[in-house]
Amino acid sequence: MKLLLASALTALFTAQACAADGEVAYPDGYRDWRHVKSMVIGEGHPLFDAFGGIHHLYANDAALEGYAAGQFPDGAAIVFDLLEAPGGDGAITEGARKVLGVMRKDSRLFPGTGGWGFEGFGGGDPGNRVVGDNAASACFACHTSQSDHDYVFSRPRD
Ligand code: HEC
Repeated sequence: MKLLLASALTALFTAQACAADGEVAYPDGYRDWRHVKSMVIGEGHPLFDAFGGIHHLYANDAALEGYAAGQFPDGAAIVFDLLEAPGGDGAITEGARKVLGVMRKDSRLFPGTGGWGFEGFGGGDPGNRVVGDNAASACFACHTSQSDHDYVFSRPRD
């Protein structure tokens, strides 16, 4: 009985350590999720400083339902995987990971930012949170232009 209780407590503690209340969990296994689209942002684009490079978007199953419905359920997660995009000799290749942007829907935890939690993991490192408490100004302010699509810019395609 003691052992049971101890392992239940350990499980609880581990779950909380992974995503403390109000924190966006690192998206484990996102490279196995559905690829939504990719885009290259080069010099001269207004967002080059922040988002220059090549990014790929990935959606989990709940987010795929959201793309289809135009409204995303709690549990939906979308990843913005941004890599350097060195070019030359007519080719653009993938370089080092710059940041892993994440949106995770949890309307209870994130009521102030459209029900979405926003986080960035610098270099893709789960321990390097670069957004923290600044989600409203650093991320959500720009995503509000998409309020008609539940704050999501990208659209599904075949
Ligand atoms: C200046 C505007 C702007 C800011 C600031 C911004 N984003 Fe975005 N975000 C976009 C655009 C535009 C797209 C669509 C990109 C595409 O279609 O490939 C996007 C897409 C995304 C997506 C994929 C889902 C979607 O909306 O299509 C995620 C996840 C994301 N951003 C996370 C973040 C995070 C985390 C931050 C804060 C660090 C942030 N964004 C800040 C403009 C912005």
